[in-house]
Amino acid sequence: MASFGKIRWISRSISTLSSPPLRICVVGSGPAGFYTAEKILKAHEGVEVDVIDRLPTPFGLVRSGVAPDHPETKIVTNQFSRVARNERCSFFGNVSLGSSVTLPELRELYNAVVLAYGAESDRSLGIPGEDLAGIYAAREFVWWYNGHPDCRNLDPDLKSTDTAVILGQGNVALDAARILLCPTKELAKTDIASHALSALEESSIRKVYLVGRRGPVQAAWTAKELREVLGIKDLHIHIQQADLVTTPADEIEMKNNRIRKRIYELLSKAATAGQGPAPGQRELHFVFFRKPDRFLESDDRSGHLGGVRLEKTTLKGDDESAKQVAVGTGEYEDISCGLALKSIGYKSVAIDGLPFDNYKGTVPNLGGRVLADASKDHMQYETGLYVCGWLKRGPTGIIATNLYCAEDTLACISDDINKGVLSSNSLKPGREGLRQLLDSRNTRIVPFDAWEKIDLEEKRRGNLKNKPREKITTWDELLEVATE
Ligand SMILES: Cc1cc2nc3c(=O)[nH]c(=O)nc-3n(C[C@H](O)[C@H](O)[C@H](O)COP(=O)(O)OP(=O)(O)OC[C@H]3O[C@@H](n4cnc5c(N)ncnc54)[C@H](O)[C@@H]3O)c2cc1C
Ligand SMILES: NC(=O)c1ccc[n+]([C@@H]2O[C@H](COP(=O)([O-])OP(=O)(O)OC[C@H]3O[C@@H](n4cnc5c(N)ncnc54)[C@H](OP(=O)(O)O)[C@@H]3O)[C@@H](O)[C@H]2O)c1
Repeated sequence: MASFGKIRWISRSISTLSSPPLRICVVGSGPAGFYTAEKILKAHEGVEVDVIDRLPTPFGLVRSGVAPDHPETKIVTNQFSRVARNERCSFFGNVSLGSSVTLPELRELYNAVVLAYGAESDRSLGIPGEDLAGIYAAREFVWWYNGHPDCRNLDPDLKSTDTAVILGQGNVALDAARILLCPTKELAKTDIASHALSALEESSIRKVYLVGRRGPVQAAWTAKELREVLGIKDLHIHIQQADLVTTPADEIEMKNNRIRKRIYELLSKAATAGQGPAPGQRELHFVFFRKPDRFLESDDRSGHLGGVRLEKTTLKGDDESAKQVAVGTGEYEDISCGLALKSIGYKSVAIDGLPFDNYKGTVPNLGGRVLADASKDHMQYETGLYVCGWLKRGPTGIIATNLYCAEDTLACISDDINKGVLSSNSLKPGREGLRQLLDSRNTRIVPFDAWEKIDLEEKRRGNLKNKPREKITTWDELLEVATE
């Protein structure tokens, strides 16, 4: 062990003393981007890392995804801020890969590029009526209540209906249901965007249906998040006893997966807990074994959602190793509603010049090295191009999952440095070159100290309202405060 440590120290010293720095650009400042930057900086003393993000604000979904009533989850931004303040790291906010700078340009400017720009689009259901007004991707709804500047004007109509249907049974669906149903007095103490808080205070939504195409054993929730929604004050929970009947295949699934068993137990307990709703009480209906068939237009409001038609399903595939899949039975039922959220998963976006698997919505890669073409028998890598996070694995996993993902990507980068595939002998202009290019295009770069001005101002405004922060939610104001 000791000699390993010594070899690493010698190689670090050599790279620090005798070579110009190796320059690496990380695209995206979410967990994947910051964990990768942190790990590169720790492992390689002679390397400079620049992190670019299309927003003037860093931290990706930690700022714009994590629910406002989960402040403890956001503490990780302190760790990311320390990375950004490292003297060998620079943050370039308001710089978008694809429009401010192209991928071939970045690859010219840096010895290596790590893509960690997440998943900023949505899976689609591909069913009739999907473009009716009143239907949103959960991503947009989440961005709206979290103050993402792209969804500042989403303005979902929460006043013309008493019912919302959420399609999908993952943790994002649970977050959305909780925000719609929990008392606004509690949300007022969080960093929820003020436009969302006002709309929720005036909301007439009393009933939320959380719809899954499979059963209670297959729901994608985690126990803490389910317990939280089940614990909302003065909320009536409705679960059909018939949906809780398990098959031998379900029993095997539960035996093999402790989380699935725990979820099933929590739902079973909640189903037996209460009677009917009290007058005026808010309601959460768990609906299982129903897949979306079409969205129905309202009779009263042309072009607006009036309901969702669901097809009853049954599960097939009882082999121990196989996943049970939902199969339609040809029986249908409708739920009337004026708001629907599609919470069936995010999807990454392709960028010009980047190999992309359109079906999976990910960049083809092996452990984080980008593959020129995954379909070829002989795997060929894109030299100096890496990927991490949701763009690499698909849109699943919690913040910490990206830490392991970053370690995996770092191992490829370190291997390529050690083998000389990445070498600072091929001199690259790095951050100075990027700055010059962006200046020539009149792109307003938001460096980390300018983000810190936004941060301070948000905290100051929040303090006036007893909130941790009041988010600034328009592009213009974000840039204005950054440059004050
Ligand atoms: C609604 C929601 C709530 C969640 N809540 C939790 C939670 O409570 N706890 C938990 O552990 N996990 C939670 N997660 C999961 C966690 O947020 C993700 O695992 C994680 O954020 C994924 O990291 P990432 O860096 O791959 O992507 P992201 O966090 O999305 O970061 C991507 C970054 O890339 C930037 N970007 C995008 N396109 C470009 C471009 N073209 N050029 C430059 N930059 C670009 C974006 O602005 C963003 O900053 C949640 C996820 C969602 C969707
Ligand atoms: N507090 C937290 O820790 C937290 C909060 C939010 C998000 N996250 C994490 O972020 C990740 C993303 O969450 P997510 O909720 O977007 O995704 P998810 O966990 O993958 O859940 C997606 C849901 O959509 C359903 N679905 C997919 N395609 C469908 C279709 N065509 N028709 C009907 N239903 C469909 C899935 O059902 P099937 O199973 O049948 O495919 C599943 O119920 C997850 O890993 C999650 O744990 C964590």
